[in-house]
Amino acid sequence: MPYYRVAGEVPAKRHVRFRGPDGSLYAEELMGEEGFVSDSSLLYHQHPPTAIVKSEGLASAAEVRLTANHPLLPRHFRTQDLAVGGDMVLGRQALLANDDVRISFAAADAASELYRNSSGDEAVYLRSGAAEFESVYGSIAAGAGDYVIVPRGTIHRWRPGADGVHALIVEARGHIRPPRRYLSQYGQFLEHAPYCERDLRGPAGPLLADGEDVPVIVRTAAGLTRLTYAYHPFDVVGWDGYLYPYAFNIADFEPIVKRMHAPPPVHQTFEGPNFVICSFCPRPLDFDPEAVPIPYNHHNVDSDEMMYYVAGDYSARKGSGVGLGSITLHPSGFTHGPQPGAVEAVIRGLAEGKTTTDETAVMIDTFRPLLLAEPARAAEDPEYAWTWAGAARGQRGSEQADRGPGF
Ligand SMILES: [Fe+2]
Repeated sequence: MPYYRVAGEVPAKRHVRFRGPDGSLYAEELMGEEGFVSDSSLLYHQHPPTAIVKSEGLASAAEVRLTANHPLLPRHFRTQDLAVGGDMVLGRQALLANDDVRISFAAADAASELYRNSSGDEAVYLRSGAAEFESVYGSIAAGAGDYVIVPRGTIHRWRPGADGVHALIVEARGHIRPPRRYLSQYGQFLEHAPYCERDLRGPAGPLLADGEDVPVIVRTAAGLTRLTYAYHPFDVVGWDGYLYPYAFNIADFEPIVKRMHAPPPVHQTFEGPNFVICSFCPRPLDFDPEAVPIPYNHHNVDSDEMMYYVAGDYSARKGSGVGLGSITLHPSGFTHGPQPGAVEAVIRGLAEGKTTTDETAVMIDTFRPLLLAEPARAAEDPEYAWTWAGAARGQRGSEQADRGPGF
């Protein structure tokens, strides 16, 4: 995180004797990235954060079967058709993954167990609904359009509201941060950045939950373990530092608009190891009288591109079957662009005075190919790949797909 926060009580100096009202010492805990040489926070617990009494493996829950995108196809997955229910941790339905990132969908209606992802940071995007995010640092009220960035190792849980939540969950194998080019050498958001510190919502004060023998699901590279802690991890009286979870609402992203069409890096919101997250937000269309105001065909030679359509009316995909809640995957090896007739339709709309777009989408570009998980295969629209070729040729394409590779 680029800036310092403090919540609750902390002593005047680091690593000194800090006592509660009964005279007992609080237990200091450093949460530090990259071996003491990057962002960190110090937390003060009422009880030792080290006291565990039980460890159980959750082998089956950790297994995700992945298959290559072969034969190569652009793909459309309808999260609208995926199962509803469960929680934000064990109810995740993996869609796409590689060695750098795993992307899952959850339509959660139940509170999760306590959870710690020790493999990497998570970015959770809530498309609909509301949820309370509770953690050792305190709670964040999250709602539709929020990204919640959860640093690696943060013990937390999700409590969806009465209507549940639909969420896209990005599990990184490292840290998810604002793009380096948005920050000064000391970490302040620069004037050209499309958002800044004022747009980020940190946790409210300590939760101070009581309890003994409290289970926490821990994700490591080996899978999931349920560790039982002797004391409730939410026993923090105060913390300070630069490392903590935070929320950022997509509506607070200030779009950058050009006279001619701007490429996706202007929409970049976060970066992680070998991937980026971009936010496409409502904005004026490109304003030159001769501009083509939707994307040109493009071949991302080094990346797979996943797009999650979350709100509004997505002009470039009209006629493709893509709707709200859909996810498209445009892989390296395939040139993609607007659906047939989309450019003409937008130009006609401009002439009729429609000079803005209300589309909202979350894009993840990965720099290594994405593999497909079973829930994505189950929710796939098999006709999508042929929609650029038109209806007649599309039918021929479907027959080819049914025959499988080799034809
Ligand atoms: Fe694209």
